[in-house]
Amino acid sequence: MLHRRELDYCPPAPRPSPARPGFVELLIKLRRNPLECWSADFFQEPIAKLRLPFADAFLVHDPQAIKRVLMDNSRNYQKDTIQRRILSSGLSDGLLSVEGERWELQRRILAPVFARRTVNSFTKAMLSAANGLAARWTSLEPGATVDVAAEMTLVTLNVLAVTIFSGGIGGDFDEFRVAMNAYFSVIGRIGMLDLFGVPKFVPRPGYRRLRHTMAYFEAVIDTIIHARYQRLAALATHDGPDDLLTLLLRSLDPSTGRQLSPTEVRSNILTFLSAGHETTANTLAWSIFLLSQVPEWRSLVVEEAQRELSNPRDDLADRLIVTKAVIEETLRLYPPIAALSRAAVDADVLGEIPVKPRSLIVIAPYVLHRHRGLWSRPDAFDPSRFLPEARGRIPRFAYMPFGVGPRTCIGSSFALQEAAIVLAVLTRHFEMQLLPHSEVWPLQRITLRPAKGLPMRLIQRRAL
Ligand code: HEM
Repeated sequence: MLHRRELDYCPPAPRPSPARPGFVELLIKLRRNPLECWSADFFQEPIAKLRLPFADAFLVHDPQAIKRVLMDNSRNYQKDTIQRRILSSGLSDGLLSVEGERWELQRRILAPVFARRTVNSFTKAMLSAANGLAARWTSLEPGATVDVAAEMTLVTLNVLAVTIFSGGIGGDFDEFRVAMNAYFSVIGRIGMLDLFGVPKFVPRPGYRRLRHTMAYFEAVIDTIIHARYQRLAALATHDGPDDLLTLLLRSLDPSTGRQLSPTEVRSNILTFLSAGHETTANTLAWSIFLLSQVPEWRSLVVEEAQRELSNPRDDLADRLIVTKAVIEETLRLYPPIAALSRAAVDADVLGEIPVKPRSLIVIAPYVLHRHRGLWSRPDAFDPSRFLPEARGRIPRFAYMPFGVGPRTCIGSSFALQEAAIVLAVLTRHFEMQLLPHSEVWPLQRITLRPAKGLPMRLIQRRAL
């Protein structure tokens, strides 16, 4: 049983200001760190209204109203231009960005690719990427310091590379990684042009460079896809590499028998790389940080990892119960996608509040997960909330790091499994200590990440 002191550890987060920011202050804060925009009232009110220059905005943190927007009346709430630009710039034909019938078709084709059984079959690949990182850390001098945030970005990209293309990305992996980072640094910012609803054809700063990066990604991926098409076509049987790319190329829409076009395959690979990379990396970085601050939970994770990793099975992640509770609590406190937005198509009513067409709806998991009306000790790190005996007490629609409804994250099982495996492997082998005087602070860019990385000293706990 853990003591009160551990239950009360409140990790770093901006203190909500007592008053709402004025419009100019809002713009400044949005550019600097959107987390700072949330004043105290948002953490208390179920629905708050804001007047923006181009439309009304509703900040919705009432579980029933969330259900209406994202599930019951989801057809009336489409992804708005801000969200589209921030989350899916350049990936216009992938699942994250398409709407209507094109989305329905792709979702039907892709659902089996992310089914639980398929995801479980990636356990070995995930373990091998995690062990690869542990081996590299072991080769460093004793007590070496690394930026754990950057290391997690690397390991999650490796996991995607081996699960999508079992043969690797080919060519220069480092060049691909650098391009990926450049891409995120441009698309992650909410600019004034977006806030004022300035149309997409007006160029945004850094976008010329982005186009160049996109052309590079497309060329690398197209080469791999082309080679795989030829290889699969040459096989008489249904054999072929056991990875996401083979699944994507062979998947058929169960209703029409249609396959994804080559452009859709490419866009979805880029979508998985971008949607599944930084999000999972930040989940891992924050989990490692939180465990470094609370030794009691760390010991529980080490114990579990030692037990379950000695003879891992395909259902390994299901058995990492404490590790998963730590990850879910991390996703509550630091949800990688800190806010979602939608635009109302037709008029509607949320709670008792009328919503006009074109209103902007913002649902912020960051606010919802710390809402005073929904959580006890909302700012405290307490993974026991997510242990099996307690989880059922969490109100529905009060916790949604992966979104809710038809557009919910298709990769959520993949991400949770990957995060649990990597966290267990690293915690089993290393004590990761935050360097003294490090400033750890959440910064919302495209994902919620530690502003200045996570410099940590590695002490090997157990030989590989
Ligand atoms: C901890 C890790 C992750 C988090 C927190 C996360 C979060 C989210 C959220 C909140 C959405 C919904 C956006 C909305 O409703 O507007 C979403 C959608 C999506 N995610 Fe994830 N995600 C994660 C990992 C992944 C991974 C690993 C993949 C794929 C390999 C992935 C692929 C997608 C795709 C394709 C969509 C769009 C689904 C659709 O519109 O039908 N995500 N994700």
